[in-house]
Amino acid sequence: MYNNIVDIQNLKIYFQIRQGFVEEVIKREKKIVKAVDNIDLSIKKGEILSLVGESGSGKTTTGRAILQLAKKTDGKILFDGDEINRKDKKYMHTFRERAQMIFQDPYQSLNPKFMVIDIVAEPLQLMKIKISQEEKIKKVIKALEFAGLKPGKDYLYRYPHELSGGQRQRVSIATCFIVSPDFIVADEPVSMLDASVRADILKLFVSMKEQKDTSFLFITHDLALAWLISDRIAIMYLGKIMEMGSADLIAGSCLHPYSQALTSVLAVVGDKRKKKRIVLEGETPSPMNIPKGCRFHTRCPICQKKCKQSEPELKEISSGHFVACHFPQKIN
Ligand SMILES: Nc1ncnc2c1ncn2[C@@H]1O[C@H](COP(=O)(O)OP(=O)(O)OP(=O)(O)O)[C@@H](O)[C@H]1O
Ligand code: SF4
Ligand SMILES: [Mg+2]
Repeated sequence: MYNNIVDIQNLKIYFQIRQGFVEEVIKREKKIVKAVDNIDLSIKKGEILSLVGESGSGKTTTGRAILQLAKKTDGKILFDGDEINRKDKKYMHTFRERAQMIFQDPYQSLNPKFMVIDIVAEPLQLMKIKISQEEKIKKVIKALEFAGLKPGKDYLYRYPHELSGGQRQRVSIATCFIVSPDFIVADEPVSMLDASVRADILKLFVSMKEQKDTSFLFITHDLALAWLISDRIAIMYLGKIMEMGSADLIAGSCLHPYSQALTSVLAVVGDKRKKKRIVLEGETPSPMNIPKGCRFHTRCPICQKKCKQSEPELKEISSGHFVACHFPQKIN
């Protein structure tokens, strides 16, 4: 059996930006946003891998590219060992069943004109899975109850506007669950929910992982949340992975200066060392104008000459611990 559900190799996703007439025609300037700039990443079967980074770092674009919702510029994306073949309809049909997405805002992802029963059953229809009305109701109730909406029958004939934000997010989870996916991209799935609902939804993800061996790419700004629920964490900055390793390693002993700035505000259980908060100077550069050398050098507190000249590769510095820095070290 192949161990990874997803393998990303040398993935680049560049967007060309529309400009004014003068720039485009007279100056012949093309502006390119390097949203994802050559990344390698694997997600194991039955693991939650969190992708953490500040706004605009390329997290959503990465997740969308895996699900074939964003076009790649270059590189390969393998699903369960095979390159995703967009041209093969039969393959894509199965792929859409096995790989699903949960969005940040369930208002946008749920069709306001459909009742819950039709929203949750829609993937069955899209997959052309033929079942009786009675079986459809049974399946939808089971999915709703798994997502914590109990009794499921009480929700079948409601419209999205008749549900709370947390209930809507559970409906989108039930929609995703009805086809028992092997892999889910969860893009900031709890950032709009209050703390108690948030905890329940996160528990649900963990139970899907444990009971059904579902793999997750969990996208978040919130490192504390990532540490709580994931097996591994990858830190992204300006389109690149800066550091990757087990959740405990990243939270407690990361070595990239950017990861250390992010973790300096985390209170890790059992870690009694007094850490100083690392405040990064300056703004994040534009992905249309990525600094030469190490792309983090304009904000790095330990930047040296070499950093401005050559870009560090993401290297495995100990088993399962990858860092993209010429001088990985504890700075705090
Ligand atoms: N369709 C598009 N056309 C042009 N630029 C895009 C497009 N989609 C994303 N981008 C740009 O790519 C970069 C990465 O965007 P992305 O949405 O992946 O970031 P993110 O890490 O998910 O950010 P956030 O945390 O704010 O959701 C941003 O600079 C964004 O403006
Ligand atoms: S390569 Fe240099 S600039 Fe980049 S993170 Fe490491 S020390 Fe900082
Ligand atoms: Mg995003």
